[in-house]
Amino acid sequence: MPTGHLYITRDLGPEPMRILRNSGRELVVHPHRDLPPTRHDLLNGVSGAAGIITLLTEVMNAELFDRAGPQLQVVSAVSVGTDNVDIEAARSRGITVTNTPDVLTDATADLAMGLLLALNRRIVEADAFLRRGESWSWGPRVFLGRDLAGEVLGVVGYGRIGEAVAKRARAFGMRVIAAGSAPTASGGVERMPLSQLLATADVISLHAPLTAQTRHLIDAEGIATMKPGAVIINTARGQLIDEDALVQALKAKRIRGAGLDVFENEPLIHPGLLELDNVVLTPHIGSAGEQTRTGMALLAVKNALAVLDGRPPVTPVNG
Ligand code: GLV
Repeated sequence: MPTGHLYITRDLGPEPMRILRNSGRELVVHPHRDLPPTRHDLLNGVSGAAGIITLLTEVMNAELFDRAGPQLQVVSAVSVGTDNVDIEAARSRGITVTNTPDVLTDATADLAMGLLLALNRRIVEADAFLRRGESWSWGPRVFLGRDLAGEVLGVVGYGRIGEAVAKRARAFGMRVIAAGSAPTASGGVERMPLSQLLATADVISLHAPLTAQTRHLIDAEGIATMKPGAVIINTARGQLIDEDALVQALKAKRIRGAGLDVFENEPLIHPGLLELDNVVLTPHIGSAGEQTRTGMALLAVKNALAVLDGRPPVTPVNG
């Protein structure tokens, strides 16, 4: 039986950490609450570990699994996306990978709507305007934005989060379409090929996982087919969009705006984005509700301890 420690790449908060301490396992916790371990510290920390609880900022690949050693049984991700984990390399070494779906669906959908509202009603721009102390008066064209009601929302990646965004959008009076290969209508959502969706939607919201197939799903060619008044919202993964192409289109006002919570080269932000008024930017906080983050950490702890105790995890990624 392996007797290695559990390496945790960040303090997960009081309740999850209490459960971990009570598990009787030896714990090694990266000491900085809000900064990831360096690669060097990470590789040292996992060496000899039986389990790892990781955030999405840490790359979990073959090099790391080999450094950990053959006793490594589980990589428990505190995220729904697991593009930072080489699932195949884990599978071939018999390592179980788990994630935290469902618990973050509402929080992420809320942020997508928040970005859309901020963008369409120019809330961030208007706030900055007032803080500059500029003189103003109510006027018919002052900070004129776009209503949500009547707009068409195009969901790319109609999974749990995409569906939760669709539900919210309908409550705001929007019509919802979703990308899908076969043109069908089900549950009030019309499906159509991505190319058709890009040309039809007023608002495009991305909710697909990042894979080799979805990298740059929204490229220069796709952006060129979007309606001139369209906006794009991304709360999924930055690499779904060719960011250079997006910046060009935003600069040229080829499309109206973007609400971005995720970035192609996180944590670096494309300098072009920072110069633009027609974007709203947030630092990957889709799931950053207090209750949601606790729920994610508790689920990740449950998954890790289950595998280490020889029980099936609640939410495995690779079976
Ligand atoms: C956040 O981006 C997640 O994948 O949970």
